[in-house]
Amino acid sequence: MITLALSKGRIFDETLPLLQEAGIRVLEDPETSRKLILPTDDPQVRVVLVRASDVPTYVQYGGADLGVTGLDTLIEHGSQGLVQPLDLRIARCRVSVAVRADYDYASAVRQGARLRVATKYVGIAREFFAAKGVHVDLIKLYGSMELAPLTGLADAIVDLVSTGNTLKANQLVEVERIMDISSRLVVNQAALKLKQPSIRRLIDAFARATAARPQA
Ligand code: PRP
Repeated sequence: MITLALSKGRIFDETLPLLQEAGIRVLEDPETSRKLILPTDDPQVRVVLVRASDVPTYVQYGGADLGVTGLDTLIEHGSQGLVQPLDLRIARCRVSVAVRADYDYASAVRQGARLRVATKYVGIAREFFAAKGVHVDLIKLYGSMELAPLTGLADAIVDLVSTGNTLKANQLVEVERIMDISSRLVVNQAALKLKQPSIRRLIDAFARATAARPQA
């Protein structure tokens, strides 16, 4: 049995066509089913639904043989015990710095101000500002980072931006792009050895589907 860890939403939706390339169809819709383990039409493959930030943990410790996770999540988690054979080029977005439209970020940075930055991505933010030589106090949040500059909790946020609509709706502006993000296939090291043929078949099918996509 092969267990694939996915998170609901964009990653699940964009992984379905890749599974199809391998001839695998998931038999239940996570938006309507309450099940956490979803069968597929291949009796040897099942999907487990986990929170996005838990995907690397499940795969690292063998709760799943492989999984799909955003590069953001992977960087924050660390990649110990995980083989990363493929950039799937799905669920693309970026990690950016954003501030209130009326906040003069460039001057604050120029003047060497100590910025308060709220984020779920503490590791990425720490490294980015350290490389720029900007002093920051990082405030860890678990959701709705957009609220932090609006309430005075922070001067800036580091968050995922896709269309930019969430920032716009909250009068925030993107002032720096830190990195481009896409989802990665991660595989448990031991499973890759023990279940070599079936996992290889999936990796190859995912690679074919990914190669067929436009580069942009
Ligand atoms: C992300 C991110 C932003 C939003 C950006 O949240 O945290 O809030 O998407 O997308 P946009 O630029 O297209 O508006 P997501 O919906 O992934 O959920 P999260 O808050 O749990 O991270």
